[in-house]
Amino acid sequence: MKLFIKTFGCQMNEYDSERIAAIFQERGYSLTDNLEEASFAVINTCSVREKPYHKVESELGRLKKFKKLNPDFKIAVCGCVAQQDGEKFLDRFDYVDLVFGTSAIDRLHSLIDLVEKGERICDTSEGDDELSIPVFGRGKKVSAFVTIMKGCDNFCSYCIVPYVRGREKSRKPSEILDEIKYLVNNGVKEVTLLGQNVNSYGKGLDEDINFPKLLYKVHDINGLERIRFVTSHPKDFDDELIFAIRDLPKVCEYLHLPLQAGSNKVLKMMNRKYTYEEYRDKVLKAKEMIPDLALSSDFIVGFPGETVEDFAETLKAIKEIRYESIFAFKYSPRPKTKASNFVDDITDDEKSRRLNELLSIQSKITEEINKSYVGKVQEILVEGKSKKGENQFSGRNRQNKVVNILSNHKLNIGDIVTVEIVEAKKNSLLAKIVEFVGR
Ligand code: 5AD
Ligand code: SF4
Repeated sequence: MKLFIKTFGCQMNEYDSERIAAIFQERGYSLTDNLEEASFAVINTCSVREKPYHKVESELGRLKKFKKLNPDFKIAVCGCVAQQDGEKFLDRFDYVDLVFGTSAIDRLHSLIDLVEKGERICDTSEGDDELSIPVFGRGKKVSAFVTIMKGCDNFCSYCIVPYVRGREKSRKPSEILDEIKYLVNNGVKEVTLLGQNVNSYGKGLDEDINFPKLLYKVHDINGLERIRFVTSHPKDFDDELIFAIRDLPKVCEYLHLPLQAGSNKVLKMMNRKYTYEEYRDKVLKAKEMIPDLALSSDFIVGFPGETVEDFAETLKAIKEIRYESIFAFKYSPRPKTKASNFVDDITDDEKSRRLNELLSIQSKITEEINKSYVGKVQEILVEGKSKKGENQFSGRNRQNKVVNILSNHKLNIGDIVTVEIVEAKKNSLLAKIVEFVGR
């Protein structure tokens, strides 16, 4: 029995796919990348924008012929599109056997039981999903995701997440810490704590805990070397978190703080609950307090009513803040969201033009920042062999940038090495070994 699993979208989906794979492994399935030998395929989907939504349809089209060749081959669709469309999937795609939503993973064993008996089922009910992972199933690696909370209560006007992931719910600290200890005992050196809005971690729990306090607890875990987290919401980003990043050596100097737009008018229409000036003051303070802090951000271009002048404010913002990298997207209306009632008045051509302009200005900034790394001595966590050639290894610095390392000694995955950056490339850095610290 072999499982093929394909994941679209964010890190939360990657984490969910690990949970799903672990459940299948408990049932005796092994993983395969080869559809021809798979007996079950799971497509974990994303609906945050229109593009990934359409990818699901083409992926299902690809799976159809395998079903024809082997009628016992089972197909499941899960994740945000499954949550959004539910039963519609079973109607539209008569060869799909199982549709399960973002809160149904806890019930997956019984769903698979029914599918294996030949039933076609949809479960998108919103019950309590405990987010626990059957730990033994997790693969060997040095860097792992750990979900600390799910859902979102912010209702940014463009965003479908609150509708497909439900209300915010935090996991208990003890559960999170146990999971990380397990991972560390199995070779993990770096964890990325995941939540749609990690700053509101702890709301609704009985214990006296918030996100910075959780960072302190995670930091105490012996053998863990690095802590990262995504995503912070700028409105809740505060001094307590700045101090935790500054004072906890394992917390990496990398902050993903999505601005989305530079115009206060657009931010208001987006229901982001901060002005550009408030945002800028917070990040400048963070940069001042945390040496070598790298910033990244998400942007939406062509939001309804965004004028050329509004867009110019976004360009001004990226020049002022100087992010190391950004993710930028053309606005696309999503079902149920408030903004889907606004007139989507910017043409697709104009959205593309704005996107290209934003990305091209950013790519110059990224290049300049990359060059400023040359000559610096940095700590790298080795994650694998580089595709670039023999004697080259690949890892990331604390600022989350990919660094290829030239080394005459064989480095192992999980090594932490000290390097000197010798060359800046467009999207990565090249380095030579200065000192081998430990295994
Ligand atoms: N259109 C375009 N981009 C969107 N995002 C979320 N919803 C939309 C949408 N409707 C982007 C935001 C968010 C990122 C994950 O996806 O920038 O931060
Ligand atoms: Fe979506 Fe806003 Fe919640 Fe992020 S904070 S998941 S953009 S609603």
